[in-house]
Order: sequence, then C-alpha cells, then structure tokens
Amino acid sequence: MTEQAIDKRRIADSFGRAAETYDQAAAFQRTVGGNLLARLPVDFHPADTTDLGCGTGYFTRALQQRYGQPVLGIDLAEGMLRFARMASPGCGPWIAADAEALPVRAGSQDLIFSSLALQWCSDLRSALSEAYKALRPGGYLAFNTLIEGSLGELRQAWERVDGFVHVNRFMPEAELRELLSGTGFAQVGCEIEQHVLHYQQLGELTRELKALGAHNVNPGRPGGLTGRARLRALTEAYEQFRYDKGLPATYQVAQIVLRKGAA
Ligand SMILES: C[S@@+](CC[C@H](N)C(=O)[O-])C[C@H]1O[C@@H](n2cnc3c(N)ncnc32)[C@H](O)[C@@H]1O
Repeated sequence: MTEQAIDKRRIADSFGRAAETYDQAAAFQRTVGGNLLARLPVDFHPADTTDLGCGTGYFTRALQQRYGQPVLGIDLAEGMLRFARMASPGCGPWIAADAEALPVRAGSQDLIFSSLALQWCSDLRSALSEAYKALRPGGYLAFNTLIEGSLGELRQAWERVDGFVHVNRFMPEAELRELLSGTGFAQVGCEIEQHVLHYQQLGELTRELKALGAHNVNPGRPGGLTGRARLRALTEAYEQFRYDKGLPATYQVAQIVLRKGAA
C-alpha cells in the first residue's frame, strides 16, 4: 500500500471513530459551513447536488431542505456515512469515496458543496479537477478549507516541546489563490475568515479535536502515547498565548465559490 493510501485509511478510521461524538463538538464547523451556505447565489436552484466530505450529514440535510431535492452524501469514512444514514431519514444516497476520485458521472452535478473536508486531501488540485469534471456547465463548487495559520498556537507550542510537527500542514493563502486561478473555473471567489476560539484549559481543545476525529496525519509525527511530562511541557508552552479571554485557538478559513463556465 502506498504512503498516500495508508494516510487516507488513517483519516477515514479517525473520522469514522469520531462519528458518535462529532456533532457535540462541531459548533465551529457549523458556523463555518453556515457561512459557506450563505455565499451560494440566491437565484440558483440546483437539481443535482453533492455534499462532499459530508461527515454526519448536517449540511446534506440542510442542502436537501433548501433545494427540495435529494442530495448525494459522499465521505471517505464509512463510520461517518453509517451515522449520517441513521441520522437523516429520507436523505441520501450515501457513497463512500475519495474526493480525489469521484464516482459520479462527468457533467452530472449542478452543485458540489464541501465544508472543511478538502484540507484532508493529499492533492487539492486533483480534488478540484474531479469536481470540475463532475459539474454541468454553469454549476458551482462551493467549498471551504483551512489555510496556513490555523491552529498556529498548537503548532508553535508543540515545536517548543519536541520540535516535531504535530499539527497538519495547511496551505498558504498565496499558494491556494494560485491553484484556484489555474483550475479552469470561469468565476472564482475566495474570501478569508479568521475565527479565534477560546478555551480555559488546553485539555478542552485537545479533547475537542479528538471528538471531531481531526487528528494529525503528518508522516513526521512521533509514535507512542503522549507522556505526562510531554503533556505538562505542552501545557506550559501553550500558556504563553493566554490572555483575558483564555487560551486562543486560531483558524484561518478560506471560503471559496467557483462557477464552471457555460459550454
Ligand atoms: C471536519 S469533517 C466535516 C464534515 C461535514 N462536512 C461538516 O461540516 O460537518 C471532514 C470530513 O471529511 C471527510 N474526508 C476527509 N478526507 C476526505 C476525502 N479525501 N474524500 C472525501 N471525504 C473526506 C472526513 O471523513 C470527514 O467526515
């Protein structure tokens, strides 16, 4: 199995295991996905919609309600899909697949919506090209993704502890914009939102990331359990960021709406 296939399996396992706890921990994910929904054109009425990286199906249901049409939910994690299917009677179909190899017919979709999923792809360019192929002329790809600076405090704190990269690599904004300009879409909109969440204790943030299944998949991560001493050192290193609101965790979110040109 290739390194990429192993990482994909690890991502799927991690999210699959988190399916039961995800919704309770996903307040930020709701806000960010809601902001993406709000960016969709008001006069647009898609017949065929895909929610890509649908997770527990929250936005699949929202899209189905908004457009009054069945919405296809796609996710890498079987565990997420099982949960989504149970939680969403009357919705679906649901398909386990990778955004980098979409199992839908070319030119069959009017809207592909994807919230906080595509930063997990090994190659964003190939996911964008798959989405482009799947869309009809005039169709939209609306997605958001985390960019460089996200979880920067956690990254810096870990670097002080052991020098390892414990936080996923997020694409720099300039690299993302360059990539978007070369995708073939006729209209490209990209806006950056900064969200700063606050925690009283570091454990609240790390437990939340675990409940979401958002684990680090960098090949450089050290194996083994986090020892008490390392955790204490991490807590101390993170304390340097504390201010009156508590411990901050910053997310930089790119909200992107792309329109495929008419044929
Ligand atoms: C942070 S969750 C977001 C779920 C949902 N969109 C939401 O906003 O609540 C990310 C989801 O993307 C899925 N995912 C990650 N990589 C993927 C890939 N390459 N193809 C399809 N889904 C993927 C994960 O399994 C997970 O369910």
